[in-house]
Amino acid sequence: MTRSRFGILGFGGYAPERVMTNDEWAEYVDTSDEWITARTGIKRRRVADDRETTVDLAAVAAEKALADAGVSAAELDEIVIATDTPEAYAPDTAAFLQHRLGAGEVTGYDLGGSGCAGFVLALDVGMSRVVQRSRRILVVGVELITRMMDWSDRATCVLFGDAAGAVVLGPAEAPVELLASTAGTDGSQADILARFAGGTRKPFSLEMAERREHLEIAFNGREVFRQAVKRMSEASRDVLEQAGKRIEDVALVIPHQANRRIIDSVRKSLRLGEEQIYVNIEDYGNTGSASVPLALFQAREEGRIEPGDLVLLTAFGAGFHWAAALLQF
Ligand SMILES: CC(C)(COP(=O)(O)OP(=O)(O)OC[C@H]1O[C@@H](n2cnc3c(N)ncnc32)[C@H](O)[C@@H]1OP(=O)(O)O)[C@@H](O)C(=O)NCCC(=O)NCCS
Repeated sequence: MTRSRFGILGFGGYAPERVMTNDEWAEYVDTSDEWITARTGIKRRRVADDRETTVDLAAVAAEKALADAGVSAAELDEIVIATDTPEAYAPDTAAFLQHRLGAGEVTGYDLGGSGCAGFVLALDVGMSRVVQRSRRILVVGVELITRMMDWSDRATCVLFGDAAGAVVLGPAEAPVELLASTAGTDGSQADILARFAGGTRKPFSLEMAERREHLEIAFNGREVFRQAVKRMSEASRDVLEQAGKRIEDVALVIPHQANRRIIDSVRKSLRLGEEQIYVNIEDYGNTGSASVPLALFQAREEGRIEPGDLVLLTAFGAGFHWAAALLQF
């Protein structure tokens, strides 16, 4: 079978109902709507209800993607989840989602640790598994970051929000095809965007909890900013070159939504018009692995993607990891 007979069959997305504005953050930490808007472009974000957990968010997005694909949970052969805020340390979120959806006893696994690049990487892995085995695979990007961050650290807490996005991959006559993909890692910079607490390098302790270090995100915002622009732009050029396409051919670029200024810098670096880039950061903030699949779902719902369009996904996260994919609708 050729690769062109496989692709994305359905899309889903979900963000929790509760909207938290920048002004609300100013009640918790020394910040302001002006600072957050000017530095990040974020105006509001979604925050999961106390009763919701990661699998709840993932299940809603997954069910929408399955319905869109016309595939039942029982027909799935594999479940892949990209997340850095899993349901539990072990087993992985895929196990909880398999049971929740009522899928068969399928292969299920999480891809964690690649931060906001996780979904695009999982899409690439999932697509190669589909082609290899002619299967139907559910790929989810989900984060419930607001439960796992320090609500008193103004440098990080205002940036994030909760959400989930999903796609169903499989064989079809006219699927959305993956024309090209790329992914890379540079572990030499691991220390400047990381969460160490709970790992073998820094096991949990009472002292750590007293100092609130169990929620700490190691973070050098300026260097992350610089690397994010460079890597997302380079990865985009890489997939275009692999597919023999030009940036003018691309109808829509869907970048990871970390910061409006990062998105604008990527747009300028790739010489894109405003209408060629999708932005929802104002309403959702940085939703980690959920950012790209949620934006992809919304862009399609809003009619921003037409049949025949080329759509480019590009993402960057902890590691550093980066990944890009070129889709033919
Ligand atoms: C985080 C980010 C918005 C900070 O913007 P910045 O222009 O680099 O700001 P700085 O970190 O230099 O901080 C500037 C000042 O604002 C202060 N500040 C930080 N967070 C603040 C907040 N929420 N409200 C008000 N002031 C804040 C800092 O303390 C600093 O004060 P000082 O000058 O008195 O020391 C920006 O670096 C960024 O978006 N980085 C990449 C995003 C990212 O890493 N996302 C996660 C992974 S993809």
